[in-house]
Amino acid sequence: MITLAPLCYCPCPFPASASFTSSTHLKMASSTTSSTSSSGLRNVVNLILDDHRRMERMFSEWDSTADAITKKRLALELIRTISLHGAKEEMSIYPWMKSHLPSSTGDIDHSIEEHATLKKDLAALEQLDPTDANFGATLRKSWQDLKHHIDEEETNVLPKLASKATPTQLNDLAERFENMERLAPSRPHPNAPAEGVGAYLANASAKVFDKVRDAMDDAKLSEEERKSMGTGTRRM
Ligand SMILES: [Fe+2]
Repeated sequence: MITLAPLCYCPCPFPASASFTSSTHLKMASSTTSSTSSSGLRNVVNLILDDHRRMERMFSEWDSTADAITKKRLALELIRTISLHGAKEEMSIYPWMKSHLPSSTGDIDHSIEEHATLKKDLAALEQLDPTDANFGATLRKSWQDLKHHIDEEETNVLPKLASKATPTQLNDLAERFENMERLAPSRPHPNAPAEGVGAYLANASAKVFDKVRDAMDDAKLSEEERKSMGTGTRRM
């Protein structure tokens, strides 16, 4: 058994790539964290934080680019990353925390509610073409919701998980979080259950359809990219 190297001198078990605020305990650094400790054990918290930072980078890239095709690609990729991440949490750390850390049930229920709102936002976004005038405003609204959720998760949920779970449990959860990639859908499904056996079944079947739709979107985008080459009409 090992303990994770703390960043600060408080007894929290967060790794050295994290930085902490005085009141809320942590606000993770923007750099990529290492998910493996010196003992070879992995930590699900770091995997989740890596995803959060990746989503932040993707949004800021989307926000700063004027190239229409790049913007479309980034928007699609961001929706996929958010959807996968949320479903993986719902099938790994959330049920584990509810059963092993009953005091966190309120926080987890709140997180699931925020996921549900986000799925609705993203589903609305999917109905718009990225060139639509409302697309940018809708994506920004979704991002604000997600940022709020990330902040709360890093303030209320992850510190509890990191301080209560053993290194072996954090390692097992890291494996579970990654394995759930096989079941997690890459699109928002606001009407699908987020908990219990129903969530696993719904996610597994949705994933099959999502893969097909992703492939079709990618092919369409590649075709648009090919056509736009040399036309100089890629600015939105
Ligand atoms: Fe998260």
